[in-house]
Amino acid sequence: MRNVHLIDHPLVQHKLTLMRRKDASTNSFRRLLNELSTLMAYEVTRDVPMQEIEIETPLETTTGKVIDGKKLVFVSILRAGTGILDGMLSVVPGARVGHIGLYRDPKTLTAVEYYFKMPGDMHERDVVVVDPMLATGNSAAAAVERLKELNPKSIKFVCLLTCPEGIRTMQDAHPDVPIYTAAIDRQLNDHGYILPGLGDAGDRIFGTK
Ligand code: URA
Repeated sequence: MRNVHLIDHPLVQHKLTLMRRKDASTNSFRRLLNELSTLMAYEVTRDVPMQEIEIETPLETTTGKVIDGKKLVFVSILRAGTGILDGMLSVVPGARVGHIGLYRDPKTLTAVEYYFKMPGDMHERDVVVVDPMLATGNSAAAAVERLKELNPKSIKFVCLLTCPEGIRTMQDAHPDVPIYTAAIDRQLNDHGYILPGLGDAGDRIFGTK
C-alpha cells in the first residue's frame, strides 16, 4: 500500500499484542500505549528537518545536529488521541500540541466537530495527527480536512491500528498524507469497530467501561 508505513519492529508488535488482550488492565493498557507511542515517535520523526549548531564538549568546539521541536505539532483527536500524546511528547518535549474534538455520530458513523484549538503560525509547522484507531477513517479524514485549511508544511497520521476500510477512506480523501500504523487488521464490524482490534481505545485508556 502506497504511503502506509507499517511499524513492524518486534518491540512494537509485542506491546500491541499485550494491549489487545481483553484482560489487560486499564493501568497496563495505558502504560503499554505510552511505551508504544514513544517507539512510533521514532518512526514518524525519522525525516524531520535538522539543523547544525555549534557546541562545546569538555574538550573542544564541534558541531552537532538538532531538530527544532517547536516546529512540530502533535494534534490529538479527542479523546483517545490523548493516550498517544504523552509518549510522543516524552521524545519531543518541545513540540506544540493541538486538539480536535470529534465524535462519531452513532447512526451515520460520520464525524461531528465540537472542539478545535491549534498553535499559531501553523503554516510554518509540520503536523503529526494522532489517534489510536483509524477505523471508518471518517474522523481522521475530517480532522485532516480542517488542518489543511491552516496550510501546515506537512501532515502525517499516526495510529496504533487500522483496517482496509480506514486506509481507503483516508487515502481517497488525502492521498498526500502518510499513515503510520503498528497493524492493519482484517475489517470493520457493523458498529465501526476494528476486528480483531482491541475494543474501544478511549474506554480502555480511561477505564470508562
Ligand atoms: N474506535 C475504537 O476505539 N475502536 C475501534 O475498534 C474502532 C474505533
